[in-house]
Amino acid sequence: MKRILIIHYSQTGQLTGLLGSIATPWETRGYRVDHLVLRPKVPFPFPWSRMSFFDAFPGSVGRVPEGLAPFDVPSAGPYDLVVLGYTIWFLNPSIPFNSFLEHPLAGAYLKDRPVLTVIGARNMWVLAQEHVRRKVEALGGRMVGNIAVEDRSPNLVSIITIVRWMFRGRKDPFLFFPAAGIRPKEMREASRFGEVVARWMEEGGDVGRDLMDAGAMRVKPALLVLEKRATLLFGKYRRFILARADRDPRSRRRRVALLSRLLPIGAFILSPITALSTRILSLVRRGAIEAEIRRITTY
Ligand SMILES: Cc1cc2nc3c(=O)[nH]c(=O)nc-3n(C[C@H](O)[C@H](O)[C@H](O)COP(=O)(O)O)c2cc1C
Repeated sequence: MKRILIIHYSQTGQLTGLLGSIATPWETRGYRVDHLVLRPKVPFPFPWSRMSFFDAFPGSVGRVPEGLAPFDVPSAGPYDLVVLGYTIWFLNPSIPFNSFLEHPLAGAYLKDRPVLTVIGARNMWVLAQEHVRRKVEALGGRMVGNIAVEDRSPNLVSIITIVRWMFRGRKDPFLFFPAAGIRPKEMREASRFGEVVARWMEEGGDVGRDLMDAGAMRVKPALLVLEKRATLLFGKYRRFILARADRDPRSRRRRVALLSRLLPIGAFILSPITALSTRILSLVRRGAIEAEIRRITTY
């Protein structure tokens, strides 16, 4: 009997649903599927207030670990596969998931194990995944593949629907906007990835490549260029938020409040301009970007 351990953190349950869909073929085949659900010692609010949401920015961008409720390595191991499910917060692995990666026990789960990552996010996860991949390998795990399921709406549309979802707790369609988050069809069809993984567990082969062929990762060149630019800006803004925080604790709050105004403006005013410039850049540097995407999507 194959044994699989799924480790994840999901705030609203979207990622839990996605992992459930992927795991369906495993359960049908009678594999033993265990779960380790990560719980922050101090839960994050949902729906978020504007300040609490943006206050998670410095910790997310700086990948600062926070306390998790105690957990033990399940005795059923060693597992044939460890699945790490995570979401993206401000272009980085969410704070609870990153806290797991930095936890002294993380290595005990991952060392010498094949590891599959599953991301459920809006649309920007590539650089976070590069970090997670390096971290898993540093902890002795063997990355075998990645599945990233995203909100397929256009960038600006998904910003509007996700903001309503995060701040009001409402996912439903409104006006001419679609429902927020990953579409139900994408969720259901994610079970095909579970099939690919099951075939690999029983027959061997190159699961990373087979997952790619099944559509497990779609990286858009223009979005990757935009993500890199935003990551650079986020790092700078994080340093600005924390620059005077020791001497003047209120400065952090003021600078987070400013971010909560600047980021939406940045997204809506700069995004159409950057969309054009990143598209041009991605055409000019097409060869180099395509080579980079090939490297990113090869496991
Ligand atoms: C604080 C915060 C920041 C987020 N930043 C991003 C982001 O930079 N890129 C992205 O694709 N999704 C982002 N999201 C969306 C999440 O990745 C995820 O899709 C959403 O929170 C639902 O996940 P859940 O399964 O935890 O409920 C963010 C969500 C939160 C709460």
